[in-house]
Amino acid sequence: MEKMWAGRFQKELDREADDFNSSIHFDSRMFRQDIQGSAAHAAMLAKQGIITEAEGAQIIEALGGILADLESGALEFDWAAEDIHMFIESVLTQRIGDVGKKLHTARSRNDQVAVDIRLYLRDETREIIGLIKELLAAVVGQAKEHATTIMPGYTHLQRAQPITFGHHLMAYCMMLIRDCGRLEDAVKRMNQNPLGSCALAGTTYETDRAETSRSLGFDGYTLNSIDGVSDRDFCLELMSAYAMIMMHLSRFSEEVILWSSWEFKFVELDDSYTTGSSIMPQKKNSDMAELVRGKTGRVYGDLVALLTTLKGLPLAYNKDMQEDKEAIFDSVDTVKKCLRIFAPMIRTMRAIPENMYAAAGKGFINATDLADYLVKKGLPFRTAYKIVGQTVARAIEENTVLDRLPLETLKEFSPLFEEDVYNEISLETCVSKRISAGGTGPESVAVQIAFVEDFLK
Ligand code: ARG
Repeated sequence: MEKMWAGRFQKELDREADDFNSSIHFDSRMFRQDIQGSAAHAAMLAKQGIITEAEGAQIIEALGGILADLESGALEFDWAAEDIHMFIESVLTQRIGDVGKKLHTARSRNDQVAVDIRLYLRDETREIIGLIKELLAAVVGQAKEHATTIMPGYTHLQRAQPITFGHHLMAYCMMLIRDCGRLEDAVKRMNQNPLGSCALAGTTYETDRAETSRSLGFDGYTLNSIDGVSDRDFCLELMSAYAMIMMHLSRFSEEVILWSSWEFKFVELDDSYTTGSSIMPQKKNSDMAELVRGKTGRVYGDLVALLTTLKGLPLAYNKDMQEDKEAIFDSVDTVKKCLRIFAPMIRTMRAIPENMYAAAGKGFINATDLADYLVKKGLPFRTAYKIVGQTVARAIEENTVLDRLPLETLKEFSPLFEEDVYNEISLETCVSKRISAGGTGPESVAVQIAFVEDFLK
C-alpha cells in the first residue's frame, strides 16, 4: 500500500522497517476515540468555514459508518497500515473520495494521537474507578459481617494487639478510596484538549479550539502547542496511580495468601478462586492472589519504562513517544484484570473466626492492656510497662498466658492487681474499649463503614 507521505520519497520503506515503524497492532484499540476526535475536528472545520458544511456532514457521516463497521466486524483493520490514524483516514478516502482528504486540514497526527490517548484514558479511568468501587463494596461487605470478629493485629508480623477482622479489612478500603481520588485528580489535569496544536506550532487556519474542546468534553484546551503534542505527564500520573493500586492489591494479596496457609487458616478462599497441584493431591493454592502480587511488578515496570522513554526527549514530538501506548495499555489491562478477579475473590472468601480468636489468645496480645490496667490504678506508664514485661517473662517460663496467671502470681509483680484484672484484659474488653477515633472499637469501625458506604453512593 502506498504511504500517504510517499511523495517525498524515491524508494519504498524496507518491509522490516515498515513493520518496526507500525503501531496499528496496538493503537487500533483507540479506533473509537480516533473517530470521535476526527468527527469533532470535521465539525469545527465546517463551522469555521474551512471546509463546507456539506463536506463536514459527509465526513462525519462516513466516520459514523466506519465506526459502525469496525464495531460490527464488517470492516477489518488493515495490519499493514502505519497506525490507526492513517488507517481510518485511508478508509474514509476510499469511501468518500476527495472530501475525505480534507479531514486532515489544520491537524497533525501529533495532536491527533495526543487527543486520542487522553480520550481513551478518560474512558478507561472511569471504568477502573467503577471496578475499584466494586472491590470496595466486597471489602465493606466482609467488614460488616466481621465487625466483632476478633483477630490478632500485627506489627513486624508479630502478634501485637487484638483487633477485629472488620477493622483490618477497612484499612484496605481507605487505600482504595485514596486510589480513586488519585485517578480523579489525574483525570482533572489530563482533561485539557491538545487538538489544534497541530504538528507543534499551531496553524494558520482560523480554527476554534474551544469548540472541539467543548464537543469532546474537555474542560479547556492546552495553552502551548509544543507542550500539547509532547506532553505525556498524564500517562505517567495515571500509571503512578495504577502502580499504587497494584501495590495495595499486592499487600492485600500477601495477607490473603498468608491467612489461607495452614499456619494461619484465618480464611478459606472459595474453590472458584483457587487451584490444585498437578502432583500434591492435598493442595489448594491461592494462585489468583499470587498472580495479582506478581503482576504488580509489570505495572511498576510499565511506569519506569515510560519515564525512561521520555527522559531526555527534545521537544516536541519524537517517534520514541509511540512507545507510550504499549506501556500504558498493559498497565490499564493488568489493573482491570486484577480488580475484576479481586472483588469476587474477596466477596466469596470465608473467614474462620475460631482460628483468628485462638491466635489472638496466644502471644501476649493483651500485654499493653495489662499495663494500662496498672496505669489506671495510678502507676506511671513506663513503670507499668516494665512490670508487665516481667510478668510476660514469667508467663513464658510457665508456658502459659497472662490471663491464666493466678492472682497470687500477678500480685508478686504488683499489689495493684485485683480480681477485676481478668475482665480488663479479656480479648473482648481489649477490643471494645479501644474507643479512640479510628481505633478498632466497634463504634469507630461503624464510622469507617458509614464513610465508605457514603463514598459508594
Ligand atoms: N503512531 C504514532 C504514535 O503513536 C502517531 C503519531 C505519529 N506522528 C508522526 N509525526 N510520525 O505516536
